[in-house]
Amino acid sequence: MSLKAQINDNRLPKHIAIIMDGNGRWAKKQGMARAFGHENGAKAVRQVVEGCAELGVENLTLYAFSTENWNRPKLEVQTLMRLLISSLKKEIKTLQDNHIKLCTIGNLSTLPSKVHKELVDVMEKTKLNTRMTLTIALSYGSREELVSVIKEISIKVKNNIISPENIDESIINEHLYTRNLPDVDLLVRTSGEQRISNFLLWQIAYAELYFTNTLWPDFSKEDLYYAIIEYQKRERRFGKTSEQIS
Ligand code: IPE
Ligand code: IPE
Ligand code: MG
Repeated sequence: MSLKAQINDNRLPKHIAIIMDGNGRWAKKQGMARAFGHENGAKAVRQVVEGCAELGVENLTLYAFSTENWNRPKLEVQTLMRLLISSLKKEIKTLQDNHIKLCTIGNLSTLPSKVHKELVDVMEKTKLNTRMTLTIALSYGSREELVSVIKEISIKVKNNIISPENIDESIINEHLYTRNLPDVDLLVRTSGEQRISNFLLWQIAYAELYFTNTLWPDFSKEDLYYAIIEYQKRERRFGKTSEQIS
């Protein structure tokens, strides 16, 4: 039986989030500059986007650039921004052909204006697509997101729009960048690192975590299938007992 055939279509994760890590090490292994890794990482993005759309996964969120990644050497940041623009231009057809809507989360105001403009353009062009939502986390940091949520809610409290005793989880959800997305079901991180690196801290409260040693540029549709097959073997108890679940 093929890997893909082992996936149960009725128990697909509704939301997969991926920390795409290992581009630099992938390039170094072949004696190349880090930029070469990032270029090849963009190819892996196409594989997972297509793979998820074909399977019927409704939401895919990719961590492309963290708030902390601004501290990398200036040249690397520039390369990443340049690659982002060229990928967006190149991938618009894949998005349209597969009926995928592009969204972003993160502090977009910190991005170079060219990147910002290209993003807004692709989001506008794909906004009516309904097969899958592809969210790119750009200049994203979960702590920064939570700070912005607290600020927004505080202002509403001050202006008597929300009363403090009514603040609950759903109000917090409504103020997150991810307000239109369900909680993450499956979080994947490549490259062997087993940490979250400031990604979706609130939203992964009950996500299944999947770590693989594969470096991001090598990540293929088969790797995606392995992750989903593993996810489907897990028993998600959400605090209950095993007997209550079955
Ligand atoms: C992931 O690969 C891409 C970004 C964080 C932008 P890295 O660039 O972190 O690659 P490694 O971890 O150094 O191998
Ligand atoms: C996390 O990768 C951010 C992205 C994949 C965009 P990093 O490579 O920046 O994470 P750390 O610094 O190793 O935790
Ligand atoms: Mg890394």
